Amino acid sequence: MSIGILTSGGDAPGMNAAVRAAFRSLKMREPDCELLFFRDGFRGLARRLDSSSDRNVDRRAVRDIIHRGGTFIGTGRVPELLLPPEDAPNYADRLAARDDFLKVAAINLYQMHVDNLIVIGGDGSFRGARLIGEAFRAHFPRRPFRVIGIPGTIDNDLHGTDYSIGYDTALNNVVDAIRKLRDTIESHRRAIILEVMGNSSGWLALQSAIAGGAAVVAIPEVEETWDHDQIVRRLVAGVRRDYRYFIIVVAEGVLRRAGADWCESLRRKLEGDRAIEAHLGHPMEVRVNSVGHVARGGSPSALDNTLAGLLGSAAADVAQLGGLRPGEKVDGDVMVGCRGPHVIVTPLDEVIARSPRLVTRDSELYELSLKLMLAAEQPF
Ligand code: F6P
Repeated sequence: MSIGILTSGGDAPGMNAAVRAAFRSLKMREPDCELLFFRDGFRGLARRLDSSSDRNVDRRAVRDIIHRGGTFIGTGRVPELLLPPEDAPNYADRLAARDDFLKVAAINLYQMHVDNLIVIGGDGSFRGARLIGEAFRAHFPRRPFRVIGIPGTIDNDLHGTDYSIGYDTALNNVVDAIRKLRDTIESHRRAIILEVMGNSSGWLALQSAIAGGAAVVAIPEVEETWDHDQIVRRLVAGVRRDYRYFIIVVAEGVLRRAGADWCESLRRKLEGDRAIEAHLGHPMEVRVNSVGHVARGGSPSALDNTLAGLLGSAAADVAQLGGLRPGEKVDGDVMVGCRGPHVIVTPLDEVIARSPRLVTRDSELYELSLKLMLAAEQPF
């Protein structure tokens, strides 16, 4: 039997190191074990396999990749796998296309004798992987097949792991951007509104704002953090204390919930605020920037590569031993994750049901942000 690996969804730094770790661990235990790479995410499963997969991967394929960002086997999103809304005009056609995709993927996996498919990605990817697992079992009920998920997303929003591969690098990239912007806005005594990725969760924005020493952070999970009046009051408190500049970090999820013009309208409000103008002696200048996809780029951090090594190797253990240790079997589709320094295994259904894992008001990081950032009623 063979083991397939693919990366899916947004690329995350450290995915290459995870593929390498899975390869090395699998081969170390069983040198004859056959490994396949499926290229470009799930699309690589549903195409002609000679052009979209690499069979019998050998050590040369994973050489010189541990330091590279992105994913050398390619990734992608497959909107066709989403269940179409029932009132979609072409509902029946879309459903049929989805079934065809899944059937071709299942047949390809069967023909390649894949019994374990390692999928590195986020919750959207795991939803797709679960469908593929279900389709495989429906078409080939007598052939064992398991999906093993490895968390790889800069959003860090998966249930079943403290950290996802890519998050630490993205965090460092965003903090680096904040530090660079700090130089220029301090020189001009400006405020900057900096948009940060994270999908529907605020983890990346929140933690980078804390680590980068931002004055304000707005996250989708806590509505009062996006209130423009409250942000203005906080900046008024800042100019009264002779703050020279302000960094306002906003998670992209806020823009989805509060409207795409959230940054622009905050900019106008701050520039037009009379109390701020009175203290500065002129209107405040505000610029809007976005870290964008740069957050996902560059060499993975040491922490991401270590996590990738740990989880890639754990996925190999589950594929070959049926669990993390000999004799310790886990059932069904699963995801490997970390709890502190330990590897844990969680059923994929549970990961999907409880993701995205969002920031809550009693999250330690959120409570910390209230102590470390600018407050409208700051007592000092
Ligand atoms: O899930 C990772 C992520 O980078 C999100 O933070 C962001 O919302 C999304 O992917 C961007 O997707 P794309 O690369 O398709 O523009």
